[in-house]
Amino acid sequence: MRVLGIETTCDETAAAVVSERLGGGGGDILSNEVLSQIAQHAAYGGVVPEIAARAHIDVLDRLIVRALANANVELKDIDAIAAAAGPGLVGGVLVGLTAAKGLALASGKPFIAVNHLEAHALTARLIDPLDFPYLALLISGGHTQLVAVRGVGDYHRLGSTVDDAAGEAFDKVAKMMGLPYPGGPHIETLAQDGDPHRFEFPRPMLGREGADFSLSGLKTAVRQEIIKLGEPTEQDKKDLAASFQAAIVDVIVDRVRAGVRLFSETAGRPSGLVIGGGVGANGAIRRALTRLCAERGLRFVSPPANLCADNGAMIAWAGLERLKRGFTSDLGFAPRPRWPLDAIASETHHGKA
Ligand code: KG4
Ligand code: ZN
Repeated sequence: MRVLGIETTCDETAAAVVSERLGGGGGDILSNEVLSQIAQHAAYGGVVPEIAARAHIDVLDRLIVRALANANVELKDIDAIAAAAGPGLVGGVLVGLTAAKGLALASGKPFIAVNHLEAHALTARLIDPLDFPYLALLISGGHTQLVAVRGVGDYHRLGSTVDDAAGEAFDKVAKMMGLPYPGGPHIETLAQDGDPHRFEFPRPMLGREGADFSLSGLKTAVRQEIIKLGEPTEQDKKDLAASFQAAIVDVIVDRVRAGVRLFSETAGRPSGLVIGGGVGANGAIRRALTRLCAERGLRFVSPPANLCADNGAMIAWAGLERLKRGFTSDLGFAPRPRWPLDAIASETHHGKA
């Protein structure tokens, strides 16, 4: 089985071909083409939806051709065409969704509308045949959630951020320090030479019941410290980055701990913890979660950084998981700027997905 996956929900245009690995489970990435639009948005300090949609239109056709060529296949060798149908910026989603529907119509192959968050949550199974149910930590620029992944199309959100997403917090703190967008990787680099104990930033929600996150207070505390410093020196910036990152790591570890507890109360013992989303590339977060899972005797599956960030392989893989179970979509499927994971569970089981 081979699936073509298309991703255009935010500022990456991506197309990939993934096949099922026979025998041991998991999949093989036959091609994974990603074109980042970062340079086009840089001057604005964030993603501009209109620029994003136009940039997807400019490159998507060529990218799909390249994904097929690099996988050494033609459209006729593909079993289904999957595209992220949301959540995300509606103009961009429309571009990928329309392309996928057009290819499906022309080739007579099934079309599969994939939830972008579902794709992040299932990516771990592409690289490591992990059994359901497991706990997924989705940390990206737009989302921060803990999800019980009980099966394909069967998700239960245990907690999510009540204000900023983790990536948003990294990006806003980076902006305050004059760093380019997206700021997460810059903060991580600066933090490597900084003192994580110099500034005592708050750890919001620590020990709080439930598994929700809150990160805007931490961001505000960093802003106040920067104002106090006046003109932060290079060393100040390194210490700010390290202290901020240490705080966010503590919050994430505490919330994952709470998530594991909640999971056990509702869905039994998880077979492991997986991460997904761009912030999942952060080494300090990965190391802290590796330690937590070792303590708890839990398997930790962390896809490589390029599969944590937005990419086409994750959409193709989610499409393949759906195709195997007969969950294909109608060509009338409309883009969904908002599409909570919990909503999928009831739809999938009523044949509407
Ligand atoms: O999943 P993603 O590629 O796009 C969204 O769906 O949002 O995530 C992008 C986010 C950005 O906020 C970026 O700053 C953050 O992921 N990010 C990082 C790192 N690499 C990317 N945050 C912290 N540390 C990193 N190494
Ligand atoms: Zn994402």
